[in-house]
Amino acid sequence: MNHARIAGTGSYLPEKILTNADLEQLIDTTAGWIVERTGVEERHIAAPNETTCDLAEHASRRALEAAGLEPGDIDLIVLGTTTPDHVFPSVATQLQHRLGCYGGPAFDVQAVCTGFVYALDIAHRFIRTDGAKRALVVGADTFTRIINWKDRGTCILFGDGAGAVVLEATNEPGIIDCRLGADGRYKELLWVPTGVSSGYEQTRQDAAFVEMRGSEVFKVAVTTLKDIAEQILSANQMTVTDVDWLIPHQANRRILSATAKRLGLSEERMIDCVRTHGNTSAASVPLALDTAVRDGRIQRGHTLLLEGFGGGFTWGAALLRY
Ligand code: UT7
Repeated sequence: MNHARIAGTGSYLPEKILTNADLEQLIDTTAGWIVERTGVEERHIAAPNETTCDLAEHASRRALEAAGLEPGDIDLIVLGTTTPDHVFPSVATQLQHRLGCYGGPAFDVQAVCTGFVYALDIAHRFIRTDGAKRALVVGADTFTRIINWKDRGTCILFGDGAGAVVLEATNEPGIIDCRLGADGRYKELLWVPTGVSSGYEQTRQDAAFVEMRGSEVFKVAVTTLKDIAEQILSANQMTVTDVDWLIPHQANRRILSATAKRLGLSEERMIDCVRTHGNTSAASVPLALDTAVRDGRIQRGHTLLLEGFGGGFTWGAALLRY
């Protein structure tokens, strides 16, 4: 039993929807510009009293139900987030408490929009080395809490949500391979300039929010998403024709289209939830995965290529048989 497979998926989106028409009332933009430049038509926003852990709990319970398992079956929780409820303890430990499955390791991973792919690789390695039998792997963010609603270059893109998978030990893969990477030289292209250790006492009122040099991020994202797909496929003697579904980080419709085109992969084989989810950071990949599992596009036996890309920069790919 030294492989891991996805036993079930789940996701959750907060009730409140913010449309492009709503944004027209807040900032100097048009719904037409947003759709043309990003593909986003609406995004979900967490209620004022709703936290990342709340979203993660809903998604996790749905993943457990899909897997036909109880919380007590889980012996590891790895959760990707950039917007934890508290500085500490981690969201993962609070999720463990909500689910009532005490004792196993539970921790958060901070890799911004690549958080879920990082978490998946870590949980996969735990299972492969006998450190866990059934892991809950979650990507959850209330990213709109760190958005400057006066910055039209960022507030149009992001939404809140959570996605989760139950990963369990099996004899056959399952997860075929995961590859992660990072390059810290890109820090200031996409970041929040303040923090616990560097301090929140800034002269600028907006310094606690996301700042992004959008068109520069765009270029690196497209190149990286293409490169990591090719690298993981060639390392496993596969090509894009072996992939049933590409599930890239849901950053911008144009990034997804450019990635598919550069890979020579038909867009019909790419899962795209940008229109209704926006960019939900660490939740983006598992949300898209669960959406396509539940609407029947992704079937057991399909080969999936998951890709994350985010602040840092960080990136990662996971190749798996569902
Ligand atoms: O999850 C992490 C990864 N993040 C991403 O992948 C984001 C990547 N970047 C993007 O998605 C795009 O760069 C944006 C959607 C953020 C911006 O689109 P763009 O086509 O790169 O636009 P731009 O930043 O080059 O700006 C073009 C023009 C500018 O006006 P001028 O200077 O040419 O007069 C902007 O001020 O568009 C203007 N603009 C807007 N206009 C109307 C920027 N945002 C808006 C807006 N509405 N919301």
